[in-house]
Amino acid sequence: MMPVPTPPPAPVRLRSLLFVPGDRPDRMAKAAMLDADALILDLEDAVALSAKPAARAAIAAFLAEPRRQLLFVRVNPLDSGLIDDDLAAILPAAPDGIMLPKAEGGASLATLAARLTGDTLILPIATETPAAIFGMGSYGGVSERLCGLTWGAEDLPAAIGASTSREADGSYTAPYQLARSLTLFGAHAAGVPAIETVYPDFRDLDGLAAYAARGRRDGFTGMMAIHPAQVAVINAAFSPSDAEIAHARAIIDLFAANPGAGALSLDGKMIDAPHLKAAQALMARA
Ligand code: COA
Ligand code: MG
Repeated sequence: MMPVPTPPPAPVRLRSLLFVPGDRPDRMAKAAMLDADALILDLEDAVALSAKPAARAAIAAFLAEPRRQLLFVRVNPLDSGLIDDDLAAILPAAPDGIMLPKAEGGASLATLAARLTGDTLILPIATETPAAIFGMGSYGGVSERLCGLTWGAEDLPAAIGASTSREADGSYTAPYQLARSLTLFGAHAAGVPAIETVYPDFRDLDGLAAYAARGRRDGFTGMMAIHPAQVAVINAAFSPSDAEIAHARAIIDLFAANPGAGALSLDGKMIDAPHLKAAQALMARA
């Protein structure tokens, strides 16, 4: 008899992922009430060295509570000398995922994956060191735990002696546009969602909406947040609209009604295989 294939795991919905500092249990409790698809409980940059032990304990306690969101923990980097204690404190409480900062390609993914148990996912931040840029195409086929790829524009400038990653108008300079684009292609090459980086100016919700819309346009399917006010804006930006769903359904229906057709016309425009693929991907997220 043929073995029954195990169904693939249900895709996790990652539109909005809200950072919460690991040494702020009060903010974890607030974040738990929000509509963020995931929380990222931070043990890395948002927590001072002296506060890391208390933060580990606070996160472990929060993980022990009932969950309504996916809970990721951002641990310290593989070479930090801190990650052993991070993992020892939190893995017994079974986080849904680990965010790996300063990741450097598939090798670092494999190193972390070998240390995890259960079905804990891994979300690397893939652009934080110079070497990381050259490993962006190496995340595929390494570990089933990989659940996305994201990027950051804050650590790399410091690592290479750049004074900023941004132009005066807030847009990225060329090196960071490259880092963003490589994240997008690296994620899709590995078959996982591309997650946009944070929008630091958390009072500027119009700017956030425009930024998130550009990310969605380019092929990102989710984004990280740093403040509660950003969550609804991000969820809206990365949720297909009714009009988009209707259009996708029309494309799928038209191909279904014309089996064997390669190119068809819808509303006076040519549609072919890539349009059908995009429509199916959109319906899968809707
Ligand atoms: N998670 C949960 N609650 C948060 C929050 C977060 N990330 N950020 C702010 N809040 C809460 C505050 O506790 C406050 O609640 P209250 O009205 O009940 O008192 C409310 O939202 C409004 O906060 P506000 O005064 O606007 O922000 P702030 O000046 O106190 O804090 C930051 C601003 C940026 C320090 C804070 O948003 C933060 O810590 N963000 C995450 C930072 C982080 O983890 N960075 C690492 C990755 S880049
Ligand atoms: Mg950082």
